[in-house]
Amino acid sequence: MEQLGVVILAAGLGKRMHSARAKVLHLLAGKPLLSYVIHATQRLHPDRLVVVVGHQAQEVQQACGGDGIAFALQREQRGTGDAVRAAQAHFAGFHGDVLLVCGDTPLLTTTTLARFVQHHRTQQATLSVLTAQLDDPADYGRVIRASTGQIVKIVEARDASAGERAVQEINTGIYCVQADFLFAALERLQPTNAQGEYYLTDIVAQAVVAGVPTQAVLATDPREVAGINSREELAKMEKTRQTQLRSHWMAAGVTLEDPDTVYIDEGVTIGRDTVIGPNTHLKGNTIIGTGCRIDGSAYIENCRLGNGVRVYFSVVLGDSELGDETVVGPFAHLRGGAVLAPRAEIGNFVEVKQSVIGAHTKAKHLAYLGDAEIGRDSNIGAGTITCNYDGFHKYRTRIGDRVQVGSDTTLVAPLTIHNDVYIATATTVRHDVPAGALVFNPRREEVREGWTAAKRAKQAAKKEVS
Ligand code: UD1
Ligand code: CA
Repeated sequence: MEQLGVVILAAGLGKRMHSARAKVLHLLAGKPLLSYVIHATQRLHPDRLVVVVGHQAQEVQQACGGDGIAFALQREQRGTGDAVRAAQAHFAGFHGDVLLVCGDTPLLTTTTLARFVQHHRTQQATLSVLTAQLDDPADYGRVIRASTGQIVKIVEARDASAGERAVQEINTGIYCVQADFLFAALERLQPTNAQGEYYLTDIVAQAVVAGVPTQAVLATDPREVAGINSREELAKMEKTRQTQLRSHWMAAGVTLEDPDTVYIDEGVTIGRDTVIGPNTHLKGNTIIGTGCRIDGSAYIENCRLGNGVRVYFSVVLGDSELGDETVVGPFAHLRGGAVLAPRAEIGNFVEVKQSVIGAHTKAKHLAYLGDAEIGRDSNIGAGTITCNYDGFHKYRTRIGDRVQVGSDTTLVAPLTIHNDVYIATATTVRHDVPAGALVFNPRREEVREGWTAAKRAKQAAKKEVS
């Protein structure tokens, strides 16, 4: 079996993005463009996989993951042909086929690539280029064929004549080339074009002139091979990808009540029979179990939801874990490592940060629980606040099982409330409370009859004088 190498071009800045960030690092469904291309090519199990980096090389390298990936540095971005040359050192002694792919074509599938390589091999081609037929060929390189249908060359849009620009068959930037021909052809490239760059595309004409078998293979789905060059193209592709992801999850048994307004990142998984309402954002590596219901207007990032979780309308959930059959919202905020044990309930205007809430424990209204550990079957009254920060350090609050925290309780951390404690309403707790105790702040309630009328009369008299 012939060996297969892959070179992914990812050294460019992407001028047309007008960004401080390298183009291939821009996100599609929450993941860098480049990571899609890497994933698609890795599944071909190539013998060598080289990513050419240059602009923001370190960051780009980091975005690649690592396993089995080699990096080549293109110091100056002198064109796509020059970029492939930068990878040459990784192909010493390699005489197989090299698949060349751009890092900015994220919707590319392994199936399409595998078919393309297969075709290249059955045709015994020296060079194959994958092309696509577009209604609007825009800035893509044009595929110029002879009257026989045989490919002659590729011309960049900006170097093309009016007649050539009218051609709707474009270069996808994906090639399969025999290594020996490839690296010899790259040596011969000249930067004689509108951009003064070494164009990889020029190896096509070289192959034709040399009379080696050259194939232009038309891709079946042009959307798959689309490249990203501008923010507008990125936004369009995000739409395409979202449509794909929504279809995928619906086919897997998830109900999306208004699919067009559910936004799903690449790294998300959703269990069957989960129902998701409108305007829901599922970000990062969020994992949602089966039979959950999310009403809508939810922003959920890097969270793990168990099975049968109920999320009422309007919540922000980040980096948190919601156990089976937990209930959250409406208008709740979980963040920074909140962990809800099964059947815990967090209600209206409750913020939970870096806290563990025990099984069946409830905080249903107006509370801040930060750096706390709360046991099971406890109830946190409305207006309870953990005072976890003194301006310098954060402190922990520990609350046991079956604790009844009265409304408007202020818990001054560090603090431990043991099991079965009752905290009376409007108590400021500063010291640890032993199991089974009642804690309250002694107060005398006074009622002054007729006080309001007297106050108003006094105010009215003042006003007359002034
Ligand atoms: C390129 C093709 C064009 C094709 C299109 C398909 C050339 C000359 N043109 O144009 O025919 O239709 O892709 O999407 O090849 N890169 C480097 N180093 C460089 C220059 C670019 O690594 O010096 C990388 C970029 O990071 C990018 C890829 O190569 O991932 C393509 O570069 P880009 O500038 O987007 O090429 P296009 O103008 O789109
Ligand atoms: Ca491009």
